[in-house]
Amino acid sequence: MAKKENHLSPRLRAIIIIFIILLGLMLSGWRIQLASATAEPGAVYQERIIHSADGIGKFYMSREIAKVMGHSAALWLERPSREATEQPQQVLDALNLNPTDFVADIGAGTGYFSFRLSALVPQGKVLAVDIQPEMLDIIDFLKTENHITNVEPILGSVTNPNLPEEQVDLALMVDAYHEFEYPKEMMDNIVRSLKPQGRVVLVEYRQENPFIPIKALHKMSQKQVRQEMAAVGLEWLETKNVLPQQHLMVFQKP
Ligand SMILES: C[S@@+](CC[C@H](N)C(=O)[O-])C[C@H]1O[C@@H](n2cnc3c(N)ncnc32)[C@H](O)[C@@H]1O
Repeated sequence: MAKKENHLSPRLRAIIIIFIILLGLMLSGWRIQLASATAEPGAVYQERIIHSADGIGKFYMSREIAKVMGHSAALWLERPSREATEQPQQVLDALNLNPTDFVADIGAGTGYFSFRLSALVPQGKVLAVDIQPEMLDIIDFLKTENHITNVEPILGSVTNPNLPEEQVDLALMVDAYHEFEYPKEMMDNIVRSLKPQGRVVLVEYRQENPFIPIKALHKMSQKQVRQEMAAVGLEWLETKNVLPQQHLMVFQKP
């Protein structure tokens, strides 16, 4: 009887064996990594190697933190279409600011909101915080160019916006909070900077709506935001449904 022929060349067989070995090593590595991600139940953050390409692989309250938008995309923040898609005037109207208020714009970027806020607090101040010095340079330039005196650029760190204690009436974060690498530490420090009864306003793209064309990690659900703000002792006051694509959520320091 004729012997059945083996069609695999030695070279192909070697490639398949190497592939199987590599796959085995990768899978066991993932298991170790996943196990270490859940090894510390009390930890504030978890690190995972299997994660979104838009995220940093670090999770807070089950949410993956998004990568920071680099200063090279500063022009994107000033895109004219923002007026229609984000309706910044609706945000400003919803804040009910007093002319003497101290407002912190945290994750200010190019100052898109800081400069709009400055007109509403002529006897107060806007503290424009960012971690990228290049963004603060842009704010400084626009401040001088437009003779604006009540916007103060502040260089923050990833854990601390470096705001004065108990001085801030309202802390605003527009499309920024989901990028904070240390959201718990940032929020603890923000709460410390608020006056009693001071407010925190978060504007984030609505995760509940899958038709909003924004990357998943750049959206947040109301449920998630409320959980994360409750974790730092903030009370939810209201969510204003005035924006076409974003939640505008208002919290208060008790
Ligand atoms: C998508 S931009 C939004 C800028 C601005 N709020 C706007 O609406 O035009 C997010 C900004 O948050 C800043 N950012 C990220 N993490 C931060 C942190 N921990 N503290 C302060 N700013 C931060 C980034 O550098 C970036 O400029």
